Amino acid sequence: MANARLRLEGRRALVTGASGGLGGAIATALHGRGVQVVVSGRREDALEELRRKLGDRVDVVASDLSRPDAARELADRCGPVDVLVANAALPASGRFDSFTPEQIDRSVAVNLAAPMQLARALAPGMVERGAGHLVFVSSFAGKVATAGSSIYSATKFGLRGFAFALREDLRSTPVGVTTVFPGFISDAGMFADTRVRLPPGVSMRSPEHVAAAVIRGIERGRAEIDVAPLPLRAGAWVAGAAPTLVAAVNRRLGSERVAERLAEAQKDKR
Ligand SMILES: NC(=O)c1ccc[n+]([C@@H]2O[C@H](COP(=O)([O-])OP(=O)(O)OC[C@H]3O[C@@H](n4cnc5c(N)ncnc54)[C@H](OP(=O)(O)O)[C@@H]3O)[C@@H](O)[C@H]2O)c1
Repeated sequence: MANARLRLEGRRALVTGASGGLGGAIATALHGRGVQVVVSGRREDALEELRRKLGDRVDVVASDLSRPDAARELADRCGPVDVLVANAALPASGRFDSFTPEQIDRSVAVNLAAPMQLARALAPGMVERGAGHLVFVSSFAGKVATAGSSIYSATKFGLRGFAFALREDLRSTPVGVTTVFPGFISDAGMFADTRVRLPPGVSMRSPEHVAAAVIRGIERGRAEIDVAPLPLRAGAWVAGAAPTLVAAVNRRLGSERVAERLAEAQKDKR
């Protein structure tokens, strides 16, 4: 049952990072499918605004996932859910030596340890009830590592490995696992917020594309879904076999300059 599919109508889903650009779109798309959504993040005002926008079938549970035990407490406070979308993350951008030890710990806690703890807390109930799906939002930085992304890439590569192996562990159960890999996303979210311009020819996808991929992953039981244009997907595919070649191409395309601008614009999100 590794490709377990789930019908969404009438289910209950926890979406972390729902106060952010992609999480809001994911919660909205799930809600549109008749799902009761539990929306989580630190900023309660943004979560309440989302609840007002969506109307009924929304619960708000605020949580700071950088705190020890926060993920397990969040799972307890949510009660049984059929779907987890582990989407919350910090951009963790910048050169390795610009991070304090505490900033490294916080990035790993929010981006990697919290999704693992949430899965640990929620998956057994899904198995027991005979249905469920776990979605992990990684990134193209979880497939291709570039300058200024060592901490972020470590968490996003880690999430990929965790999710794929977990899918194998849950193979004989009715619980599915999907990892979604967004490239650069326009309009809202941690990249759009920076207003950094990409080199000519690099195109983007929207938060709604990411939300559609989450829905597709759950309904079709897909293992991994990329949300990016063909050249980016092709680059990631080649990087799997020849990472130093792709690193050289990325440098030529100006990845170091983009990374510096991103780090500057995202330094208050550590
Ligand atoms: N945007 C892109 O281009 C892009 C590309 C690839 C992958 N992604 C991935 O997509 C996901 C969503 O990102 P986004 O673009 O929507 O970013 P965003 O707008 O910055 O949202 C990040 C979300 O994570 C939550 N979060 C951060 N720290 C937290 C903490 N300590 N405890 C609990 N929640 C916390 C934020 O909640 P509060 O602000 O309320 O704390 C917010 O809801 C992330 O996993 C990101 O890595 C995004």
